Amino acid sequence: MAERAIENLVIRNLSKEFKIENDVIKVLDDISLDVKHGEFISVVGHSGCGKSTLLRVIAGLETYETGVVRLGERDIRCSGVDRGMIFQDHRLIPWMTVYDNVAFGLYGMSAGEKKELIESHLTLVGLKKFANAFPAQLSGGMAQRAAIARALVHRPQVLLMDEPFGALDALTRIQLQQEALYIWETERSTMILVTHDIDEAIFLGDYVVVMSERPARIKKIVPVGLPRPRDRTREDFLDIRRKIYISLFGEQRSEIEYMI
Ligand SMILES: Nc1ncnc2c1ncn2[C@@H]1O[C@H](COP(=O)(O)OP(=O)(O)OP(=O)(O)O)[C@@H](O)[C@H]1O
Ligand SMILES: [Mg+2]
Repeated sequence: MAERAIENLVIRNLSKEFKIENDVIKVLDDISLDVKHGEFISVVGHSGCGKSTLLRVIAGLETYETGVVRLGERDIRCSGVDRGMIFQDHRLIPWMTVYDNVAFGLYGMSAGEKKELIESHLTLVGLKKFANAFPAQLSGGMAQRAAIARALVHRPQVLLMDEPFGALDALTRIQLQQEALYIWETERSTMILVTHDIDEAIFLGDYVVVMSERPARIKKIVPVGLPRPRDRTREDFLDIRRKIYISLFGEQRSEIEYMI
């Protein structure tokens, strides 16, 4: 596969408001974040704080009023193939096979190159044998894998994932987290994961970015720094989890508050 350019993502003093009739809701408030090429960043925060909005701004699907969002030398103002996005639902086209879903929108190469690229990504996500299956014939985990292949086949600099495993059962979720780690190590693209699962954030991320309640500000950036693959039962993993919970809920927290 062709080498990727080294491009860092720079976010400086980003603010974003939504106007609803006569109301203005501030959603992102003065966010600054540097994401180096190839880093895996996890983002956690309370529901409704603005995490999806932040991803959508980086994807170029939302405008912003103030600040800078730049990938390499380019200011981000609209969507592009240099950024891929994966959602909680797979959004595969139901009447197309897995192969055709992954092929969709892939232009500018010979038929042979295209086939090789699609097949290598189907292999990467473990779906080579299901190339001719339709989305309805896949399990939830397989459909999410197909969505990952569809995003990665464009060789994006940055893969944005908005609760990609949120709709899966606990065991499939853990399996997909392990696969996501393998995919990241193989692809070496930058990955930004929004999740409500603190363990998932720590298992995968180089850093965990903790957002405040709306309007979202960056409350804390927690470096993980543990060797991969990470053991969720190790004391140092649990210490990081504790740090994130305290950042989200404060020292005085109840069992119910743990269930976000
Ligand atoms: N297109 C829009 N128009 C108006 N308001 C919006 C729009 N998109 C999001 N919002 C508002 O912005 C706020 C943040 O929404 P966002 O979806 O970014 O939150 P979130 O952190 O991803 O929440 P969750 O964890 O529940 O997914 C919410 O109050 C939401 O109602
Ligand atoms: Mg969201």
